[in-house]
Amino acid sequence: MAITDLLKSVDFSSVNPFRRNQGYVALDIGSSSIKMVEVEADKSGYRLLNMGIQPIPAMAIQNNMVADQEAVVKAIQNLVKNHGVRSKQVVASVPGRVAIIKKIQLPAQGEQELDANVEFQASQLIPDALENVNLDYQALDYVENSDKIDVVLVAVKKDIINSYAEAIKDAELVPAIVDVDYFAMENMFEINYELETSGIVGLIHVGARYTSINVLKHGVSTFTGDLPVGGESFTEALVHALQLSYDQAEALKVGGRSDAKKQAEVENLLKPTAEYLAAEISRTLSLYRHMADEGGIQKIYLSGGGARTPGLASIIGEKLGVEVELTDPFRGFSIARGIDPDALADSASALAVGAGLAIRRPGDK
Ligand SMILES: Nc1ncnc2c1ncn2[C@@H]1O[C@H](COP(=O)(O)OP(=O)(O)OP(=O)(O)O)[C@@H](O)[C@H]1O
Ligand SMILES: [Mg+2]
Repeated sequence: MAITDLLKSVDFSSVNPFRRNQGYVALDIGSSSIKMVEVEADKSGYRLLNMGIQPIPAMAIQNNMVADQEAVVKAIQNLVKNHGVRSKQVVASVPGRVAIIKKIQLPAQGEQELDANVEFQASQLIPDALENVNLDYQALDYVENSDKIDVVLVAVKKDIINSYAEAIKDAELVPAIVDVDYFAMENMFEINYELETSGIVGLIHVGARYTSINVLKHGVSTFTGDLPVGGESFTEALVHALQLSYDQAEALKVGGRSDAKKQAEVENLLKPTAEYLAAEISRTLSLYRHMADEGGIQKIYLSGGGARTPGLASIIGEKLGVEVELTDPFRGFSIARGIDPDALADSASALAVGAGLAIRRPGDK
């Protein structure tokens, strides 16, 4: 599992640990909506207890951070109220594109020594002053035939983390973990697609404003990238083609399932944007140098709200020449009785990051 917790420097002294509610709720705060997921783990595996999606105004998230705190707080409170969330501890994430992620090798050493060494390495590798970032690291495996270990360093600007943490606190919840969404995706994939983790697969997550690409080799991230294209680009294509308002175009895109003729028309209008996105994905993946010598990507797992854009999966599949499958982030989970199967089927792909966050607990190793 990829483990980061960028909140280590948050002051929890005001929270009495004995009065804490032990439940955890994941909040994936995206630019178009907040996704809530509650999961419980027991001997038989993971169980989805609760989920919900709450739209937020377009300007609430800007430049990858919370810009309108009041709007985000209100949306979180609505989720809590409408879905009866009782957990107080929040697992959240920042977008991967704001994280500085560096892989380094260090001589094998004890934990305390490693702490000091990693800090030194970070001061050399990270362009920001260390006092302006929250830093975490994870020691991976020993490097084969050597006495070295691979270490992944992750740093995110404090301003960005705090913008999310403050909104969570203002909604009267406790920020317990802040992860990076790439890692959440990796963890979501690992627990659901255990048997598919051999070889190379691509996780492509189509959000509202961004599409993120995460190439996993034997289940571990080896390449990441982001494209500034997402669901909003598709809606805007309909706005321009049909002279609709944004909301009308969005409704047409998301709800065009009833009438087959209309759906084909909509799909046709979305095609140039889908082709553009597929070409950009292909171009980005060509930067992944090891593609060719490893036999390339075997399969693409598509997720994010935008994954259900009509025609997108097949256009990506054609362009890249690989099979594309819609990700089910709860594939290996049991589902609590209160969850509406239709609502779950509709929103599952959008909950991929949320599912990966929902299985995190402080102190995970
Ligand atoms: N059924 C659907 N068909 C097509 N597009 C859809 C559908 N459902 C949702 N979307 C699109 O998915 C997008 C939202 O996806 P998601 O919730 O993953 O984004 P986000 O997390 O808010 O954004 P980001 O991660 O880019 O900040 C919206 O642009 C929305 O139009
Ligand atoms: Mg998102």
